[in-house]
Amino acid sequence: MIIGGEKLKLTEEEKKILDGKQGKGNQRAMELLFALANVFEAERFISIHRAHVALSAQLGDTVFAEQLVEGGSECKITTTTNPPWDVKYLSKYFSVSNDELSLANRSMQAYKKIGAVLNYSCIPGLGDNVPRFGEHVAFSESSATPYVNSVLGARSNRESSISALAAAVIGKTAEYGFHFDCNRAGTILIRLEELDLRTPFKWGILGFYLGKIIGNEIPVFQLKPSVYPKDEDLLYLGAELNTSGAVSMYHIVDITPEAPTFQKAFRGNKPKYEIAVKEKDLSETREKISSRGGKINLILLGCPHYTIKQIKEVATLLEGKGVAQEVALWICTSYSALELAKRSGYFNIIRKAGGNLVADTCIDQPCWKTFETGLGVTDSPKCAYYRERRGQAFVIKDIDECIQASIKGEVE
Ligand code: F3S
Repeated sequence: MIIGGEKLKLTEEEKKILDGKQGKGNQRAMELLFALANVFEAERFISIHRAHVALSAQLGDTVFAEQLVEGGSECKITTTTNPPWDVKYLSKYFSVSNDELSLANRSMQAYKKIGAVLNYSCIPGLGDNVPRFGEHVAFSESSATPYVNSVLGARSNRESSISALAAAVIGKTAEYGFHFDCNRAGTILIRLEELDLRTPFKWGILGFYLGKIIGNEIPVFQLKPSVYPKDEDLLYLGAELNTSGAVSMYHIVDITPEAPTFQKAFRGNKPKYEIAVKEKDLSETREKISSRGGKINLILLGCPHYTIKQIKEVATLLEGKGVAQEVALWICTSYSALELAKRSGYFNIIRKAGGNLVADTCIDQPCWKTFETGLGVTDSPKCAYYRERRGQAFVIKDIDECIQASIKGEVE
């Protein structure tokens, strides 16, 4: 029986799915989409052609995926997946409990059976799953959603792993939020003219600082004309805006596709307020969210996954040097960047120096608990935030300082 949904109009096919005529899995998925549509007062569902699922190898997500598989569901559209952890490779280095190992395997099996593309990367918008301008999609993952909305100009709400998977098996999502032009308008103006934004690290600190202040507003950034953000800068900015806040959409005037001018970025509206960010705001933020220095046991990089450009930078910084014996240096990346790093010689340089590069792996997984007795270093506030919830303190530094720390075995 269909309950609620005063505004929502269902097609005959959608009613059949809700009634279970396309199997129990699709019924379960449709019930979830139906509930979301009602909460957000959507009037209809729209077809989509791609999704990205934040497969987390956590129990709730895994059970939902298994229920859909048991109910006969399959992904109708291209559906890429976030990283769990490379069970085969990392089990050689770290011990985890049988329960943790079996959950990771269960999760990967469920997503394989449902027909997802097992790319295991949190930067799908840079290669594996790239929506077109204006395309409606369902992307979960806090670093992926702002990238596809803001940098590519595709249209996704801030999906969870289960809502993105439900959308993937039905091939539809409820039309609300960022699917509408009017909800994509900038709401506040951020002036960055005074900042020196040379590295992804600085963009990340900026994102973390602003996410806390602006919540779920849509910032419009004004840069110095000489600043041109790289892909990695934009990834870090979005990941952190969407970690300390709930910002899945931003504009940079003259850079992002829906902001050729200020007027267009705000869609003719006036900003509610403006913020001028100073270097002092960023240094104070880093101080606040970073632990105090000392002896270290881990450098953890690649949250979001490092691109080939970032791997090359690490190789350059490490060439001819060695990671201190008591320190482990791990870099998480995508399978494709790992392969490129091998072909290009960066992998060997990093290995020779004592560092490690691993694909298919997220920093928020139980395999890293081996290091929880010591202090870690990262260039990513998101990494520090997630790892601290699991029990390891992290110092947050720019990449060159991270590599220096890995060589010295300590950090200021
Ligand atoms: Fe990627 Fe995991 Fe960080 S999915 S963005 S490495 S928390």
